[in-house]
Amino acid sequence: MKGIVLAGGLGMRLRPLTNVTNKHLLPVYDRPMIYYPIETLCAAGIREIMLVTGGNSAGDFLRLLGNGAEFGLRGIYYAYQQGEGGIADALRLCEHFADGQRIVVILGDNIFQCGIAPYVERFAAQESGARILLKESEDLQRFGVPVFDGDRIVGIEEKPAVPKSRYAVTGLYMYDARVFEYIARLTPSARGEYEIADVNNFYIREGQLQYDVLDGWWSDAGTFESLFHAGELIARGRSRVRQQVDRQ
Ligand code: DAU
Repeated sequence: MKGIVLAGGLGMRLRPLTNVTNKHLLPVYDRPMIYYPIETLCAAGIREIMLVTGGNSAGDFLRLLGNGAEFGLRGIYYAYQQGEGGIADALRLCEHFADGQRIVVILGDNIFQCGIAPYVERFAAQESGARILLKESEDLQRFGVPVFDGDRIVGIEEKPAVPKSRYAVTGLYMYDARVFEYIARLTPSARGEYEIADVNNFYIREGQLQYDVLDGWWSDAGTFESLFHAGELIARGRSRVRQQVDRQ
């Protein structure tokens, strides 16, 4: 399966940190933010990645990541998103790269503690459709939130004032080739963006969206609080590993 990392957008919520650089190049503890989603895809066996970025620092990604060999990638491809049209607008640029195959999409500011291989395997076993990952959150107004009928998702609301469940939709999406058909049918939301929640709602209407509830912690790093928190979680994880190594 091919992987896609979406690292466009202007990172307005992190100004002034993002005045002169791209959000995804900022440090999260000991690495640039963009390393984490790339490593998540690589650890799931994905060897070909397309990275979508935008803004003024696009060239810095090439300097940082090169041909992806450091991550064990067979190839890394780059696309440039003009402006900030939304997550689905960035994904639209990857149709040629996907070439009719299934894709695993990860947001460039999403950090996952555990591997995603079991979920990718379940998606591969699915006949068709899409698969998303949910995680309980206390900060639901910042995320896409699923609405359930029993254990079936019947809709996803983007940043609801009154969330209808206790789960956030994480930034890891698995799609079959129909995703680009759905993106072509999208209209911009009230905030002027092509929303990934609307893409998922197309799949829901077709009865084609499956989900898993994620093991381990998950954090985005798109606000000062979450950026700081993600750094703390990584630092704690690294120090646990160091202690284990010291004990051996
Ligand atoms: O983190 C998970 C959440 O991410 C989901 O629960 C939401 O449903 C989803 O809409 C998204 O919400 P955010 O408000 O956090 O999205 P944000 O605008 O911060 O964009 C997240 C990443 O998507 C960003 O790090 C880079 C990429 N992106 C975003 C935009 C707006 C692009 O590549 N291009 C864009 O135009």
